[in-house]
Amino acid sequence: MGTQCLLIDGGGRLGGELRVQGAKNSALPLLAASVLCRGETVFHNCPRLSDVFAACRILTCLGCRCRMEEHSVVVTNDEIACTSVPDELMREMRSSIIFLGAVLGRTGSCMLSLPGGCVLGPRPIDMHLDALRRLGAVITDQHGIITATAPIGLHGARVTLPFPSVGATENTMLAAVTAKGETVILNAAREPEIRDLAAFLNRCGAKIRGAGESRIEIEGVEKLHGCTYSVMPDRIASVTYLSAAAATGGTICLTNTAPQEYDAVSAVFEEAGCRVYGYQDRMYLHAPTSLRPVNRIRTMPYPGFPTDAQAIVMAALCCAKGTSVFEERIFESRYKHVDDLNRMGADIQVSGATAVVRGVPKLYGAKVRATDLRGGAALLIAGLAAEGQTELSALSHIDRGYEEIETAFRALGAQIRRTERGEEDRICRMS
Ligand code: UD1
Repeated sequence: MGTQCLLIDGGGRLGGELRVQGAKNSALPLLAASVLCRGETVFHNCPRLSDVFAACRILTCLGCRCRMEEHSVVVTNDEIACTSVPDELMREMRSSIIFLGAVLGRTGSCMLSLPGGCVLGPRPIDMHLDALRRLGAVITDQHGIITATAPIGLHGARVTLPFPSVGATENTMLAAVTAKGETVILNAAREPEIRDLAAFLNRCGAKIRGAGESRIEIEGVEKLHGCTYSVMPDRIASVTYLSAAAATGGTICLTNTAPQEYDAVSAVFEEAGCRVYGYQDRMYLHAPTSLRPVNRIRTMPYPGFPTDAQAIVMAALCCAKGTSVFEERIFESRYKHVDDLNRMGADIQVSGATAVVRGVPKLYGAKVRATDLRGGAALLIAGLAAEGQTELSALSHIDRGYEEIETAFRALGAQIRRTERGEEDRICRMS
């Protein structure tokens, strides 16, 4: 529905309580992991997102039965009938490369095609492929068509990642759990989603130690069985709602969240003058009328400040009383939201990896367009804080990662609704 847009009447303070969705960035690797599990696997707390639906379609194409009811996905997997994923399905979900390790581990071969770069800049997969080769895979990459086989099966190995890549760590884990012998991943990513994936795999019979630390040890087992598992809460969705509250001088409480998993972001909100308080699965934020600037925010691998929160927190700091500085260290091209924030009245200057945000007294509603998932969420937050109406289009980006985002924000008191673009123009012309 490319013609839909969100109409946001900004200026009100957010308030109230909201239950946060399950994590997209965990649900996708978990669904890929279910390829390895014989029998039935049930995932609860699964967010209803276009990326999740795409992952379910990939599972179906591989020969699994997959159905989603409310927030539960049931995958029945007796036999993998097909080991290649069609191009159009791969294109639907950016992180579909995660199926490579799982399908290869289960069947000994996998073929998939990869879309080139993405809006965040080039998305290389060299670390994924190198790691799988260490485990015994023979891989060819011909114009983006990846063919991987394991002629004598996969075997354990010592894999040292040059950078703690989340995707490469996940793919290595998926391939290693049923490989022969022990695998050690060094310089592994430590993101909570890695811990979630390991917890799930261990419940299915895998033997993984150290997930969440830089050194992960995996003792290969012969096969995995299904289980019932609840997807972890979405830390970036949590940060999105907190940032919107901070931007509007609001007070909100989140439930089904894990505050310790986004400490680095909470510290920024505190520095900006918010009171934050996390307890068990709840997070509370009370924002002052205007935020203080934040000296320097540098995106880093976990437990550092997440790249996914950069745009979202930038939107909140546009009206801080002074200058904040961001440094994007993970992706090359992750400031696409800046032009539209400036169109709304922000004063942001980008130079290479650095963005300097000079606080302005006010933002103003405008017609803006999401260029990527988190950048789109940032524009929505700016719209909530701005005076007047914002029309935010290209919602397919936002729908990849947020379940009914307008319903969630309405629960916090926001004036926001989804509409067909043409319909609004018609109403305007008639009146
Ligand atoms: C990244 C984020 C993750 C976020 C996700 C979605 C980090 C470390 N990872 O995960 O938190 O949820 O985006 O936005 O912040 N790279 C290579 N070769 C590879 C793989 C990666 O050079 O084979 C580089 C990438 O270009 C990038 C960096 O490593 O600069 C991080 O990549 P990686 O963690 O793999 O990205 P995602 O798994 O997409």
